[in-house]
Amino acid sequence: MTLAIGSPPLQTYAVSKTYGRRFGRRTKALRNVDLAIPAGSITALVGPNGAGKSTLIRGFVGFERPTSGRMTVMGIDPWRHRGEAIARAGYVPQNASLYRSLTVAQHLDMAASLRRGFDRTLARGRLRQLDIPLDRRAGELSGGQQAQVGLALALGTRAEVLLLDEPLASLDPLARREFLAVLVSAVRADGSTALLSSHVITDIESACDRLVVLGGGRIMLDDTLAAAVGSHRITAPDERLAGDLISTFPARAGELKALWRADEGGRPANLDEVVLGYLVSGRPPRSERPN
Ligand SMILES: Nc1ncnc2c1ncn2[C@@H]1O[C@H](COP(=O)(O)OP(=O)(O)O)[C@@H](O)[C@H]1O
Ligand SMILES: [Mg+2]
Repeated sequence: MTLAIGSPPLQTYAVSKTYGRRFGRRTKALRNVDLAIPAGSITALVGPNGAGKSTLIRGFVGFERPTSGRMTVMGIDPWRHRGEAIARAGYVPQNASLYRSLTVAQHLDMAASLRRGFDRTLARGRLRQLDIPLDRRAGELSGGQQAQVGLALALGTRAEVLLLDEPLASLDPLARREFLAVLVSAVRADGSTALLSSHVITDIESACDRLVVLGGGRIMLDDTLAAAVGSHRITAPDERLAGDLISTFPARAGELKALWRADEGGRPANLDEVVLGYLVSGRPPRSERPN
């Protein structure tokens, strides 16, 4: 097999995924997704529940087969060569479950036996820094500590690519910060590439340099964080700017705002507004929405 040198670590070409083709209702979980996640980046994959985030991430480790299109991890097709793709990816599934009755140390042992080259010293060192006792059973750790163990197991693989599916969902704000700090320093130190999903952007904006917004299985926005914010403006719904109207979306107090891709006019958008505006722009008309 040839590895494409210099190609993006995570790439998709027109990937679509439809669930339930034979029986019952069909769900289009991914629609024509084209992505190229550059090396060394930390990309936030943001979208509401059901947007297709987990389907995309599972696809990268060969647990879902695209209905059409192609995807690669470090140039490898994970569906055809699952073992090789997984060997290059540290994957932390949504609701990553540890074995409650095993200790942290036993989890490290297991990872080392399952994965050639697992860096037990690195994983152990990270957990020590966080004061997570290695002799404690996983079931007796807090949610934040369990998430840190999951991350340490993923980082111990020394994988080139980290795929983290809603790793922060069950953490309190302080635990989120600690988790992200560990992630950012690991990615910087190892030069790896991370894709992490969340249903809200606020948690992760400090840690990420790129943003992909997924809505209804479609890529709504794919840009650097700086460009995503810098290229958008907010106006009242009836104002007009020289630029493209992305959508009119409900703001906090029920009033409507308009999101524009424009260089001037109105006021600068913040990241929440950009994400919200793109999510609204991607919603199907009310008549086509499931109840
Ligand atoms: N194994 C499955 N079988 C059938 N439908 C599924 C399956 N997994 C996910 N879906 C559907 O695909 C859509 C995308 O799901 P998912 O990728 O889990 O979204 P997210 O992770 O963004 O919440 C949802 O409508 C979900 O109900
Ligand atoms: Mg999910």
